[in-house]
Amino acid sequence: MSRKALIAGNWKMHTTVVDACKLAKKISEACGNLTDREVLLAPPFTVLSEVSHVLQNTPILLAGQNVCWEESGAFTGEISPHMIQDAGGSAAIIGHSERRHIFHEDDSMINKRMRGALAFGLTAILCIGETLKTREDGKTFDVLREQVVKGLDGVSDVDVPRLVVAYEPVWAIGTGKTASKEQAQEAHSFIRGLLTELYEKDLADSVRILYGGSVKPDNVDDLMAQADIDGALVGGAALSSESFGRIINFNK
Ligand code: PGA
Repeated sequence: MSRKALIAGNWKMHTTVVDACKLAKKISEACGNLTDREVLLAPPFTVLSEVSHVLQNTPILLAGQNVCWEESGAFTGEISPHMIQDAGGSAAIIGHSERRHIFHEDDSMINKRMRGALAFGLTAILCIGETLKTREDGKTFDVLREQVVKGLDGVSDVDVPRLVVAYEPVWAIGTGKTASKEQAQEAHSFIRGLLTELYEKDLADSVRILYGGSVKPDNVDDLMAQADIDGALVGGAALSSESFGRIINFNK
């Protein structure tokens, strides 16, 4: 099963309009004419619309960094799937470890966001990953199972083509510590197995599983060479067009 690689950049709470537009333009130049991989950017909501103008006529996709499950209403501080689409986005990152750990979003809220995003036609990137304590306690796979099963509760076959999973060990995010390629492949292959329990095999095989956590120009090639690593979710290194450009142009 061949899956088209997806390199996603999560800009987190960085950039104002002027620097976001400059960065987006430089990244689009760094993409060149790549047709065998997809590139997605998740800028802050406040710059989504301007960045989408910069990226018009380029294949780069845009995502929100989170999304509400409702179309509109009294949900102060939230952004709806329709608002993301209106600003030029087609996807949303959901359940990022910073949402889980700093803002205490739990699996049930993350599941609501997943179902809402998918119901309104967005691509939904479900982020999962264990903390260092979980890994040291030998409970990594229990936690991954729980996050996948609860996060995808009620997500049916018809929505799976718009599902992406991102495995991001919490201890590797923003720390400069990357999971080794063997650790990452082991987790990805486990996640692939979980998807096969939930969905028909061809469908489960078609889901892209991204690795995230200190992906850099000097480790991307090794990671991308693993059988079940279909892309990367990049934080820090996505804020420079040089490093993100190199990551996009990973060698197969
Ligand atoms: P990092 O962030 O690349 O800076 O580790 C990854 C992420 O949070 O998605």
